[in-house]
Amino acid sequence: MCGIIGYIGELHAADGGGETTDEETPGSVGEIVHRGLKNLEYRGYDSAGVALVGPESGLTLAKRSGEVDALSVPDVPDATLGVGHTRWSTHGPPTDANAHPHTDCVGDVAVVHNGIVENYEALRAELADHEFTSDTDTEVIPHLIEEELAADSGGEEGGEGADLLAAVRRVEGRLEGSYGICAVREGDDRIVVARRGSPLVLGRGEDASFVASDVTAFLEHTRDVTYLEDGDVAALSPDGVEVYADGDAVDRETETVTWEADAAEKGGYEHYMRKEIHEQPTALRQTLAGRLDVDAGDVDLDVSFPPGFLADLEEIRIVACGTSYYAGRYAAQLFEDLAGVRATVEIASEYEFGAGRTPDRTLVVAVTQSGETADTLGAIRRANAAGARTFAVTNTLGSTVTREVDGTAFIRAGPEIGVAATKTFASQVATLAMLGVAIGRDRGALAAADARSVLEDLQGLPGAVQQVLDEEQRVREAAREFQDSEAFFFVGRSLGVPVALEGALKLKEISYDHAEGFAAGELKHGPLALVTPETPVIAVLTDGARADETMNNVTEAQTRGAPALGCVSAGDEYDTLDASFDVPDVGVVEPLVANVYLQLFAYHVANEKGRPIDKPRNLAKSVTVE
Ligand code: F6R
Repeated sequence: MCGIIGYIGELHAADGGGETTDEETPGSVGEIVHRGLKNLEYRGYDSAGVALVGPESGLTLAKRSGEVDALSVPDVPDATLGVGHTRWSTHGPPTDANAHPHTDCVGDVAVVHNGIVENYEALRAELADHEFTSDTDTEVIPHLIEEELAADSGGEEGGEGADLLAAVRRVEGRLEGSYGICAVREGDDRIVVARRGSPLVLGRGEDASFVASDVTAFLEHTRDVTYLEDGDVAALSPDGVEVYADGDAVDRETETVTWEADAAEKGGYEHYMRKEIHEQPTALRQTLAGRLDVDAGDVDLDVSFPPGFLADLEEIRIVACGTSYYAGRYAAQLFEDLAGVRATVEIASEYEFGAGRTPDRTLVVAVTQSGETADTLGAIRRANAAGARTFAVTNTLGSTVTREVDGTAFIRAGPEIGVAATKTFASQVATLAMLGVAIGRDRGALAAADARSVLEDLQGLPGAVQQVLDEEQRVREAAREFQDSEAFFFVGRSLGVPVALEGALKLKEISYDHAEGFAAGELKHGPLALVTPETPVIAVLTDGARADETMNNVTEAQTRGAPALGCVSAGDEYDTLDASFDVPDVGVVEPLVANVYLQLFAYHVANEKGRPIDKPRNLAKSVTVE
C-alpha cells in the first residue's frame, strides 16, 4: 500500500510551457515528482525517495526514512524523467537503506515497487553473485533487470542492444505475488512500468505522461487517465504511452476523472472508513501473501522462538485495547484449538503479570494496529519486567512496540486513516490465526490435515469478504430502516462474541448511538430488560458461532418485540429474521466475514445521520496516553 509516482514530458520546460491545469509553473522534474509524493503521503509515510534521469547527469538517487517533507530532492537541471515512492513497510524496517528506489549492482537501473514479491527469497538465492544492500523484497527486481539487460547485450553488463522494456517484460514473468513497478535506466528516455495485483494508473497529458499508484498523485496536471490491467507492461516516453499485454501492443481506454483531489485520495469514496472497508480483500491478500503452505499444512511468519520454548509453553496471554482487544478475543479461542495451549486475553490497561503464572513459560502477545498505544506498551513493559517472553502483532513497522518485544508479526494491512479500525481487525485476526497454526504445528498439537483445513479457510477469506461487500446496498437499506432505533444489541456465541462486541463498538463510535454487544446466552441474565420494539438485535449466526443456540436467544428478544437481523451461513435459513445476510462458507473465519456486514451497517447508520465518520468526536487514531 505504498505510493508511486512517475513523470516524463515537457511540463518542466524552463518557460513552464505545456498544458497544465495549474496556474503556476510546474517546476523541475524533481519538484513535480516531489509534489506527487506529497499528494500520496496518506498511502504510506515511513520513508520516501526519488530517482531522476538526465542525459548528462545520468541517474541521481535520493531516499531516506521519515516523511516526504524530510526528503531533500536533489536539483538536477537536465533531468527529463523521474520516479518517486513513499513507503509503508512490509519487508524490512523503515531505514534509509530499505527506502525505495532500489538499484542494481551496476547502479544504472532504479526501481520503485508497490506490493509484495512472494518468491523474493528464492530469487535472491538465484542472484547469489549480486550484492544486496537492503532487507526488502523489492531489491531483487533491479538485479533481475540487470541480468536481463546483460543477456540482451551478449553478457556485457549495460552494453549495446539492451532494452529496458524487454528486460522488464521478462522479469515480470519471474515474479510471484502482487506488484506495481516503475523502472528507469540511465541513458534510456522512458519509464517502464508493470502491473499485477497492485494498481497503476497512467496520466496522459499533451506534453507529459504520468504513472502513479492512484490518480491523486498527478491530478493537478491531467485528468485523462488509463487504468492498467493485471499483466500489462507499459513504456512512457515524452511522446506518449505504449501498453503491452502478453507481448502484444494493446489499446487501453482513456477516461476523464471528474473527482476532486480530496475525493480521489479516498479512491472516490466519501470517507476513508468506507474505502478501508472495501480494501479488505486486498489487505487480506497482502496479510496472507507468501505465508501459507497449504499442502504441508504450515505457515511461514518469519518469526522464531528459542529452542524448546514453544514445546514447554503453558499459556499465551494476549493484551490489547478496543478493536485490537476483540481481535485478541477471537484469536484466544483459535489458539486453544490450534496451538493446544491455554490462551487468555486481557484489556491492556488492566493487565498485571499475576501470581501463579510462570514467566518463562508464558508468551505475552500485544495486538496493536498502531504499535503506539500507551496502555498496550505499558502491559508489555510489565510483562517484560516479570520476565515473560513478549511478542507483537502490529501493522506498523518501526513502531515502539516492535522495539520492546522479543518478536513481531506484521499484519500488512496498509495504512488505516479512518479512526474506526476496520481492515486492520480482519488482518489482525488472520495473522493471529496463522500464528496459532505455526505454534500448533511446532508443538505437534495440530495435525497437518487440521492445519490444512484452517489454511484453506484463510485462503477463502478475501473472496468471501468481497461477496459480502457486493451486498452493500442491502445493508444500506437495513441501516436506513433501523437508524432511528433507541439502541442496538449485538449478540453471538463462541467466535461470534468478539464479533458482536466489535460490531457494537463500531456502531457506537461513529454513529454515537447506544450499542452493546453480549454473549447471546447472557441476554436472559439481565440485558433482556432493555429489549423493546425500538431495540434491534443483530446476531452472528454462522459456523463457529453456535448459530442455533444463538437463534434461540434471538427468539427470546423477538418475543419481547425486538426486530432481529442476522448474518447467517449461506445455505442456512432462519425464517423469523427481519433481515438476513448470507455469509459464504469459510469455516472458522465465517464470523470474521460476518463482521464486514456489521462494519457496513455501522457506516451507513452513521452516514445517514451525517456524522463525521473518519474523525468521530472525542476519539483519536492512536491513543498515546494511559
Ligand atoms: C476502534 C479503534 C480503537 C483501537 C484501540 C487500540 O475502532 O480503533 O478501539 O482499536 O485504540 O489501538 P491499537 O490497535 O493501535 O493499539
